[in-house]
Amino acid sequence: NGSVKVNGKGHLEIGGVDTVSLAARYGTPLYVYDVALIRQRARAFKETFRKLGVKSQVAYASKAFSAIAMIQLADEEGLSLDVVSGGELYTALAAGFPVEHIHFHGNNKSREELEMALDAGIGCIVADNFYELDMLENLCAEKGRKVSALLRVTPGIEAHTHDYILTGQEDSKFGFDLQNGQAEAALKQVLSSGWIKLLGVHCHIGSQIFETAGFVLAVQKIMDKLDEWHARYGYFPEVLNLGGGFGIRYTEEDHPLPPAYYVEEIVKEVKKQAGSRRLPVPEIWIEPGRSLVGEAGTTLYSVGSRKEVPHVRKYIAVDGGMSDNIRPALYDAKYEAVLANRPLDKCEETVSVAGKCCESGDMLIWDLPLPKTGSDDLLAVFCTGAYGYSMANNYNRIPRPPVVFVENGKDELVVKRETYEDLIRNDLRLRVPLS
Ligand code: LLP
Repeated sequence: NGSVKVNGKGHLEIGGVDTVSLAARYGTPLYVYDVALIRQRARAFKETFRKLGVKSQVAYASKAFSAIAMIQLADEEGLSLDVVSGGELYTALAAGFPVEHIHFHGNNKSREELEMALDAGIGCIVADNFYELDMLENLCAEKGRKVSALLRVTPGIEAHTHDYILTGQEDSKFGFDLQNGQAEAALKQVLSSGWIKLLGVHCHIGSQIFETAGFVLAVQKIMDKLDEWHARYGYFPEVLNLGGGFGIRYTEEDHPLPPAYYVEEIVKEVKKQAGSRRLPVPEIWIEPGRSLVGEAGTTLYSVGSRKEVPHVRKYIAVDGGMSDNIRPALYDAKYEAVLANRPLDKCEETVSVAGKCCESGDMLIWDLPLPKTGSDDLLAVFCTGAYGYSMANNYNRIPRPPVVFVENGKDELVVKRETYEDLIRNDLRLRVPLS
């Protein structure tokens, strides 16, 4: 993409900054984010809605990468924010994000989390189940405070990477089933509530989706129901939130659509469905995570040890692994990589890139073509911006890497590297004998 290139020194450059110098300055592993690309993606989503003339909100799904600087960037780009836990909400509030533009998700929000959201003056709660509705209602009554909400429904569609499967009765832990009366019961409960103002309906059909058909089908099924509800209860939502899940390019095998295309197809279908039923066009909200930040992130690693299994495989190991990117181990996710210090050198061997964790499954990339690689080399793994840092962990007590933002030839550290001291910060010494 635009801001990744090879500079005059023959090094990989991101956002006008030499990755070799970044590694020298901040150490490795290091997450590098190309801020211009995040802005470009955010603007493409927003601009498409603007052109189509529908009211909208583009909410950044902060689970993809939550850190104060990232939340500030989302705010600067005029995005709304989706949070799914007290921790994500806390981060957003600490970043000074406008609370009225925060949407609170989750299938098991605790009483404390709901209280925190209500006290902060949350923009809306995405209500997931009856347990939550009851708790929310009670809390609002206790506090004498009203709240806006969306009802999360499961329309009975499961979207997969290259196709979608229609499931009559969707088997999912999330949301109210649209087809079996659950969603309607929730609607009735909320409509009769004096405390919860129903803004509309939400659904999220899946992640890393490469087609628009699943979204179109979701719109059809939801508009069918809304039409029924309108006739029965005189209720029609102000907002229809279609979630996130727009696919990105991890490797050459992935063929995502341009982000704008998903929006165009969704808006077209909503307008068509509304028009044919003489219903108003609701405000349309989306919640992209991966498609905003995924391709903007690159992880830099130093190459260390090497092992050859004669006639079978060459392994090179890097100084991170499943502790900073669990996706290959967890989902068999695929990534591409180059040597950041000499990306144009001819590939002469095929190596498999291992992490440093004590686990055979800690392999980042299998069978990667590279130049003959040694311990002076720096490996850049692309497309690690979503669900990399946010799913990082301290397995083997490996400190989490820092995050640096780059843009226009400048770099800024936005998350510090964890220290060994950080790792034991919450540990308490055993008092012997136990009291
Ligand atoms: N909205 C809702 C309600 C969601 O559940 C999700 C993702 C999103 C939006 C954002 O989806 P995105 O645009 O990022 O695909 N850890 C997994 C992904 C889990 C996604 C969970 N929900 C991974 O690394 O692939």
